[in-house]
Amino acid sequence: MAILVTGGAGYIGSVMVDQLAEAGEEVVVIDNVSRGHHAALAEGARFYEGRVGDLALVERVCRERAVEACIHFAALAYVGESVTEPKLYFENNVAEGLGLLDGLRAAGVRSFVFSSTCATYGEPVRVPIDEGHPQWPVNPYGWSKFFMERILESYDRAYGLRFVALRYFNAAGATLKRGEHHEPETHLIPNVLAAAAGRLPHVSVFGSGYPTPDGTCVRDYIHVTDLCSAHTLALAYLRCGGRSEFVNLGNGHGYSVMEVIEAARRVTGREIEVRVEAARPGDPARLVADARKAREVLGWKTQYPELDTIVRTAWEWHEAHPEGYGSRGGAGTG
Ligand code: UFG
Repeated sequence: MAILVTGGAGYIGSVMVDQLAEAGEEVVVIDNVSRGHHAALAEGARFYEGRVGDLALVERVCRERAVEACIHFAALAYVGESVTEPKLYFENNVAEGLGLLDGLRAAGVRSFVFSSTCATYGEPVRVPIDEGHPQWPVNPYGWSKFFMERILESYDRAYGLRFVALRYFNAAGATLKRGEHHEPETHLIPNVLAAAAGRLPHVSVFGSGYPTPDGTCVRDYIHVTDLCSAHTLALAYLRCGGRSEFVNLGNGHGYSVMEVIEAARRVTGREIEVRVEAARPGDPARLVADARKAREVLGWKTQYPELDTIVRTAWEWHEAHPEGYGSRGGAGTG
């Protein structure tokens, strides 16, 4: 039996494929590599280049490879782009997601692990954010993931699809082989490290007047290896007959933008010039997970909770891969 990973050429998906292969699982990847990288694909995984919404492809792959479960990473994930190009987000994240679910259903695959996001909560009314926090996204990216969550609930009730929807906080860090390479890069840690490496003249800090201790935004950074180990546990949970769940993935600790920059100065030993700029529209001041449910339901334990470790692993990957996966266009999926 195989595990289907969509978006296996993306940042998080590629780490997941490695973890599954190391655990002895047979892995099948579907990815259109529109935003991922061929170089990020693990050699051992069987790769089908195509759309996840191609129902016939999904059904064929599932039957050919005897797929028992799907981990679905493939999606567009730029908040800003989703505001200017919402059609792209609803098409890629919702319509394609629906095609995937129907292909799985046609092939009789009933276990599904879904990459959701804390962006489904919108502007928090309380922090830390638990899974019962109201969901009212503030951008089309968040809505696209919210809609997928509701579709999953309905498919569970009607068709017996069991799922774990994992609501990621801020994915970060790298393994020795896989790291974060988006084009354009909008995420904080890669940009801070690019400034440390001299590839950017400075790091822009978007806003310093937030109601946080140092005025910059606070986020809950979670190492990509820990994120992926939660998916492995979710898979085991579903294999044991666990019922459908929504689960936050974060460390439960918030770090400000300035604290991240300080950590990068410590880790790299480099000067990092900072320029405070206007706040980015739609950035909530504080996003920190209440991650107890992941521990209780999945038995999740994080291996790399410290910010310095997260930044160090990202730095090591960037040092070893100064051009990332190469200069082709496109940003990572998932
Ligand atoms: N930031 C900067 N300078 C930069 C980049 C980011 O100051 O060059 C700030 C942002 O304004 C934000 C914080 O650093 O306050 C983190 O920004 P990221 O872009 O790294 O991450 P976000 O919190 O905006 O986004 C993440 C995920 C999204 C998800 C979102 C949920 O990348 O997929 O969390 O709000 F939707």
